[in-house]
Amino acid sequence: MKIAVTAASGKLGSAIVKAVRELKSREDLIALARTPAKVQSLGVEVRPGDYNDKQALKQSLQGIDTVLLVSGMGEPKKRIGQHRNVIDAAKDAGVKKIVYTSVQGAEAGTAFSPVIQSNRQTEADIKASGLQWVIGRNGIYIEPDIDYLDSYVKAGGIYNCAGDKKCGYTNRPELAYAYAKMLSEDKHNGQIYNLHGQSLSQAELATYLSKRFNVDLAYHAVSFEKYRQDRINELGKFLGTVIAGIYQGIAMGKADNPSHYQLAAGREHQSWDSYFLSLKV
Ligand SMILES: NC(=O)c1ccc[n+]([C@@H]2O[C@H](COP(=O)([O-])OP(=O)(O)OC[C@H]3O[C@@H](n4cnc5c(N)ncnc54)[C@H](OP(=O)(O)O)[C@@H]3O)[C@@H](O)[C@H]2O)c1
Repeated sequence: MKIAVTAASGKLGSAIVKAVRELKSREDLIALARTPAKVQSLGVEVRPGDYNDKQALKQSLQGIDTVLLVSGMGEPKKRIGQHRNVIDAAKDAGVKKIVYTSVQGAEAGTAFSPVIQSNRQTEADIKASGLQWVIGRNGIYIEPDIDYLDSYVKAGGIYNCAGDKKCGYTNRPELAYAYAKMLSEDKHNGQIYNLHGQSLSQAELATYLSKRFNVDLAYHAVSFEKYRQDRINELGKFLGTVIAGIYQGIAMGKADNPSHYQLAAGREHQSWDSYFLSLKV
């Protein structure tokens, strides 16, 4: 059974390629990439995989049984069309099963909701495709909070609009492990799984970061409007608004859902104690 993984040059796509390599032989795995030159180090066959080029995708998916579609990064409306290109190319090429990395969050009422809605539209497109399918709804990546440590220290704590609500965090290697199982086991077909570990509040996240990195971070709630402006100042209008919208959704309780990680992966998600201990100080 041949498996293709899209966006293999990205952090999630490359982690999934590595996780599938643990279960399958090199010959059964193909990495698709918009920029194939970035993917040579993965040690598997690489084929063109630009979401905007349906013909090239169809060509690249010849002989593939199962494709993993990593959700795109473009603005929501464009994303839907890009994902449709992959789904249509998969159908035309005779692919049998598609596994999609979707996301959890508020479907309405936040600045992030258009992104969630675009993911839900792709879920609907996949269900209507006639292919076998599995959908993972990813929790929020925790890695950006680790990368952001210096900024938190400089700011004197974590400031955002999540309040005291919890968020289902995950990390890319744990997601990759679950997706490798969802790709290679038929029992997941037709399932939608929320993929994340134990939910954490921002105060709990601050405590984990403080203990592991020997810093003194506290959590401070700020209003959505103040946080949105702060993010726009740092990241620009599109990304700043989206990031603020993610925390707005957390404040609405929309990121604190039951986790189906165990069902998808066949084992529990890594605990946050274990994850933080594994980080280099
Ligand atoms: N759950 C969360 O917390 C969270 C956070 C951020 C993002 N996400 C979602 O998760 C996805 C994967 O995250 P990541 O960490 O792996 O992101 P990443 O490291 O930035 O990788 C993004 C990937 O998308 C590829 N890409 C962009 N436009 C493309 C196109 N037109 N055709 C084909 N590939 C294209 C990039 O290819 P190039 O190397 O050619 O640029 C790259 O491989 C994101 O795309 C986003 O939808 C989730």
